[in-house]
Amino acid sequence: MTVQPFRAIAISRLAHAMKAEGRSVIHMEFGQPSTGAPKAAIAAAHQVLDADAMGYWESAPLKARICRHYAETYGVTVEPGQITLTCGASPALVLALSTRFRPGDRIAMARPGYVAYRNTVRALHMEAVEIDCGAEVRFQLTAEAVAALEPAPAGLIVASPANPTGTIIAADELKAIAEVCRARGIAVISDEIYHGLSYVGPTPSMLEFEPDAFVINSFSKYWSMAGWRLGWLAVPPEHLDTARALVGNLFLTPPSLSQHAGLAAMDSEAVLEGHIETYARNRLLLLDALPRLGLRSIAPPDGAFYIYADIGHLTDDSLTFCEALLRDTGVATAPGVDFDPVHGHRFMRFSFAVSTPEVEDALRRMGPWFAARVSA
Ligand SMILES: Cc1ncc(COP(=O)(O)O)c(C=O)c1O
Repeated sequence: MTVQPFRAIAISRLAHAMKAEGRSVIHMEFGQPSTGAPKAAIAAAHQVLDADAMGYWESAPLKARICRHYAETYGVTVEPGQITLTCGASPALVLALSTRFRPGDRIAMARPGYVAYRNTVRALHMEAVEIDCGAEVRFQLTAEAVAALEPAPAGLIVASPANPTGTIIAADELKAIAEVCRARGIAVISDEIYHGLSYVGPTPSMLEFEPDAFVINSFSKYWSMAGWRLGWLAVPPEHLDTARALVGNLFLTPPSLSQHAGLAAMDSEAVLEGHIETYARNRLLLLDALPRLGLRSIAPPDGAFYIYADIGHLTDDSLTFCEALLRDTGVATAPGVDFDPVHGHRFMRFSFAVSTPEVEDALRRMGPWFAARVSA
């Protein structure tokens, strides 16, 4: 079993060390909203802090609210009993994999993809089957690629919008993927953590096409509450007993405080839509400016808050490249090797979940740095 480190963490550590030395640093290395929890969520937390004994707790109102969210957003019915509250998407992924699969099972996923998919699969002694998804398929899974897997894997992890690219799988393709999986007996885990963050229209849920999918979501991204450690897994009814047994042994409950806050956050649409306006502005700024830095080949950033750019004309070592960029300019970014061990040495990822002035500042700093390299 080989679990690789998340190299952006090393970049972030260096960024914080530079900051401690008095350097000005712009954090574009993690997909982490800089906005903090919505005010109503913080107010709800303040309110319960003195009044609630904070025991083990699963908030029935929060589960009901999440089910309402599925009904209103996607027109699908999920029962509150199917919702397992977790400390974010990360344990939800462990829970989904360990509920549905066994050691040795083959789990397919897109490459590039979120670093933890392959590493969590491996940590659970399963086999990661990476599907090479290049620019010609918008760096995303297709039904055709899933149909071509031989032998059929036991499971498939779908992520739309995806990390590191932000690309969204269109509804008809997602439906076709669900159909191929059903026909081939492939169980689906859909990571919908970036739902709500789309610049090209609605993002369909896998539950619209596959009611038996395991669906992961989290308050870390759209709801801007990464440090509150709250998320959930929607479990298909036939696997509920197994999932409950695992939760009771592995995780118990997420913090009560976060559950109270999360419920309030789900009714904070105006402020959250304001964040999306900022991301949309940041995205346009980068799309306009990056080609002038020589970065012309980027994944279509349909959603999330990332730009995944090809830097193959500048380097074949994205980690060293990102480190040099950070040391020279104070702009922290993530190397593509985190997301794609095969081609990622020639890609980098910018997170634009920062303020617009920070994006403008980063572009000012990066201009001369990239110009020197392009002309070298
Ligand atoms: C695609 C994806 N899934 C899951 C996670 C983990 O998120 P959480 O903070 O909810 O554990 C991340 C974090 O960046 C992510 O990008």
